[in-house]
Formats: sequence, C-alpha cells, structure tokens
Amino acid sequence: MRFKDRVVIVTGAASGIGLATATRLAAEGARVAAVVHSPEHVDATEAALRDAGAPDVLVVTADVSTEADVKRCAAETVDRWGRLDGVVNCAGVMTFSKIEETSKADWDTVLGVDLMGAFYFIREAFRRMDAGGAVVNVSSVHAVQTTPLVAPYAAAKAALDSLTRSAAIEGREKRIRVNSVRPGAIDTPMLWDNPNVTSGEETIDPADVGEPAQVAAAICFLLSDDAAFTTGATLSVDGGRLAAL
Ligand code: NAI
Repeated sequence: MRFKDRVVIVTGAASGIGLATATRLAAEGARVAAVVHSPEHVDATEAALRDAGAPDVLVVTADVSTEADVKRCAAETVDRWGRLDGVVNCAGVMTFSKIEETSKADWDTVLGVDLMGAFYFIREAFRRMDAGGAVVNVSSVHAVQTTPLVAPYAAAKAALDSLTRSAAIEGREKRIRVNSVRPGAIDTPMLWDNPNVTSGEETIDPADVGEPAQVAAAICFLLSDDAAFTTGATLSVDGGRLAAL
C-alpha cells in the first residue's frame, strides 16, 4: 500500500494510460481525484476506481487547457481531502497534418492540453503541496524521435520534457519531485486512431506495443517514495525503442 492516505490527481483518467494509472493508484490505497474531459465518462471512471479498491474517489470534469478548470480541480481535491500529494499529467491530444496545412488552432489545441495543462497543474501543485509531494508528466518518444504530420505534438512533448526539468529544479527547495515518463507505442485508442498508423505510413510491430499498465507501473514508481531521490528524470517506457538513438 505505497499510497495509503495519499491524495493524487490523475488527468486523462477516463481511458488508456491515465485510467490504468488511476486504478493502480487506487489499488495501492490512494484517494484519487480523476480528471475526465467529458461528463459521459464520470460514472464509468468512478466505477472502475471503486472496483480497483479505491478508499475514496472524486471524479472531476475539466478541460485541462483551461486555467480556471485546473484551479477548480485542485481546489475541489483539497477541499475534499485537505491535502495534495501527487499529480499525474496524462491528458493528451494529437493532431495530424502537413506543416503547410497546420493551423494556429491546431497548435493552440495541442500546446493547450499537452503543455499548458501540465503547467497549470504543476503550478497548483507547487502552491498547494507539502514537502514530499511528486508530479509525473506523461511525455512521449515523439519528444526526441518523431514522424511526419505531428509537429505540434512533438514540440509540445519536447517542451514538456523541458518543463519537467525546470520544475524539478524549482521544486527542490520545496521538496517536491517532478519527473516524466516517455511511453513508446502503447495499446490505447490514441495509438490505433493515429492516421499515420491507419494509413500505413507508420508501421507498428505488435512486438513493440506496450500495455497501459506497464506505463502506469513506471508512473507509480516515480510518484512513490521508492523514487525519493529521483527528480528531473525522464524514464522511457518504450520496449527499447529509443535505445537505438
Ligand atoms: P487516450 O486517448 O486514451 O488518453 C488521452 C486522455 O486525454 C483521454 O482520456 C482524453 O479524454 C484526455 N483529454 C484530451 N483532451 C483533454 C482536455 N482538453 N482536457 C482533459 N482531458 C483531455 O490515450 P493514451 O495513450 O492513454 O494517452 C495518455 C497520454 O500518453 C497522452 O499524454 C499521450 O500523449 C501519451 N502517450 C501515448 C502513447 C500511445 O502510444 N498510446 C505514446 C506516447 C505518449
């Protein structure tokens, strides 16, 4: 029970890596504030967390790219349980287009969720967490090894890695750790809905595909006291994909 009595916010908690992380945390005793984008996901997310053994659950609907929504999530969490120990920034979106066809709106959408959403939650964490708290950002192999058509996503994830290091440096004084994981291809809707994959432009060898629970295990390690001396780190969870660089 590594997370007994701990309070952890997980964004992107309705599906994929976020849901796997939230259920793992719940199974290990955490009180989880699950952030979901759409009200239609509230009941199923709450049921999944209770089934996993969560001692208590809060499901909050929010758009993480909206500052006011993030402030509300943090406030509701602290109002409910009186503390905040961990944040997992897992919400993410991708757009797919050639650079000459990519709009400012595409950039705003992707940077808003994948970068600014994480920033807003880190800021809340730094304002509200006590010493010993931890943040984990979910980056991507695209931060360092990308493909065509996803420039805003690759840039957002590279910037997120940089933000992880900046926040780790500023977090030292507060004794708040900030790390990130860099998943490779993971078996979630985001992978299989990727037009680069459906078009065959990017081929995925099934042997290179990991499970959401494998990323969740790495996230939970970085959140836990097992990683008490680890901050500013980026842990690749990609089956060795980036080892070739
Ligand atoms: P997913 O599509 O299941 O999860 C993304 C989640 O983000 C969804 O629950 C969605 O509702 C939420 N979300 C999107 N926009 C939002 C917004 N404006 N406000 C609040 N929530 C929002 O896909 P997956 O794979 O679980 O993605 C989780 C994270 O993992 C993402 O940050 C993604 O970039 C990253 N990742 C995924 C990889 C994969 O192969 N599946 C590989 C590398 C990174």
